[in-house]
Amino acid sequence: MSLLRLINRLWDMLMDRFKLREFLEHPVPRYANLNPLYWFGDVAAVSFVILVVTGVVLALFYQPGVEERVVIQHGQEQLIATKSYQSVYELVYREPFGFVLRNLHRWAAFMMVFATLTHFFAKFLLGAYKRRSGGALWLLGVLLGVLVITQTVLGYILVMDLEAALALQIGLNIFRYLDYMGIPVGGLAAAFMGSLFVTDQVISRIYILHIVLVPGIIAALLGLKIWLILHAGVSPPPIRDRARAEAAASATEPFYPHRFALTMGQFMLQLSFLLLLVAAFPFPIYDPVNGYETWYPGKETPPGVRPPWPVMWYYTLVKAIDPFIAVGLPVLMVLFALVVPLLDRARSNALEERTIWVIIAVIYMAVIGYGTVLGYFIEIPKPLTPFTSVEVPTEDIVPTVGR
Ligand code: HEM
Repeated sequence: MSLLRLINRLWDMLMDRFKLREFLEHPVPRYANLNPLYWFGDVAAVSFVILVVTGVVLALFYQPGVEERVVIQHGQEQLIATKSYQSVYELVYREPFGFVLRNLHRWAAFMMVFATLTHFFAKFLLGAYKRRSGGALWLLGVLLGVLVITQTVLGYILVMDLEAALALQIGLNIFRYLDYMGIPVGGLAAAFMGSLFVTDQVISRIYILHIVLVPGIIAALLGLKIWLILHAGVSPPPIRDRARAEAAASATEPFYPHRFALTMGQFMLQLSFLLLLVAAFPFPIYDPVNGYETWYPGKETPPGVRPPWPVMWYYTLVKAIDPFIAVGLPVLMVLFALVVPLLDRARSNALEERTIWVIIAVIYMAVIGYGTVLGYFIEIPKPLTPFTSVEVPTEDIVPTVGR
């Protein structure tokens, strides 16, 4: 038997064994291939693949550690920094392609959050939960959204530059505040993290969460979501007229080559766009010394320092509204998102029948969008901590490191 025939037989065997033929021939409705509102899920999934590949390489260089101080020779200057900061510094300035790797990972994370939020908004507008397996897909989508934002914040903290140290301290303060109020979530977080102050143990736990636990859960939920879509099909078009909706749904194209070509094109475009962003807008590493050691909870944030944009809207609300009220807001927003399919009683997903839900979807996203944009423009001179409006026991006002 010639080598070519052997390869052909092997290929056929693989196709049959893993049901690849069914997968490749899977019918995809034409409207879903043509309408950009149906593409953002793919953008998020491709970003995840890029994040896993770049993340695994980053993990070869990164070292968690905040308590021990090390010296970095920065030109003529000597910087005293943490091990975490030093490992990212060395990677960015001393390793070939380290700069590209770090910035690619960070830009891909931001692209994944942006695509996930846009995907959520598109599905909210289209009432995509009103379909076969719609409730389960919606639930998986909301969970994935929360996990992706959590994962971005965890990654952002690992660098341990000034912005990251502040983000971590503020995050821990929220749990300390809940603990102080006797709300069990605070105590649970303290038990899980080992401490609610910036210690080696906390940063190691965050590292494990970031490279194993959270991406593992994201991968499992994403796999389940893709499997459900393969079984239950793409969501129907938002048309009231049944005959037209059915005609649109039955005009299909096989996954291969149509959608496959689109996804490959999208992957290459996405990667090129990300590399362009890396070249044009690389992220600085903020000074590890100034501010980091002298800043403590309750003290005003140094100007220009902000949280990562996926949680910027929350930062704006904490600063603009009473921090007491704002603390629980994201939880309420997530709970509301979870029960939307139960509240939306419209008979179909047609936009004309769901005007009120279209308005609610727009308001929901406007709260996030408006808060995000506003966060970059306002400089409210309030100490950035949820402790602001309560009397803090003096022993709780401690330096950021080592307790
Ligand atoms: C949904 C997936 C992921 C998201 C959204 C994400 C997000 C981020 C972000 C925003 C940063 C900060 C980048 C910076 O400013 O330098 C970061 C850092 C990091 N990530 Fe990820 N990441 C993901 C998956 C992974 C995976 C799977 C790994 C490893 C297996 C990983 C390993 C790392 C490491 C080691 C760092 C610290 C080094 C550095 O900051 O450059 N990440 N991540």
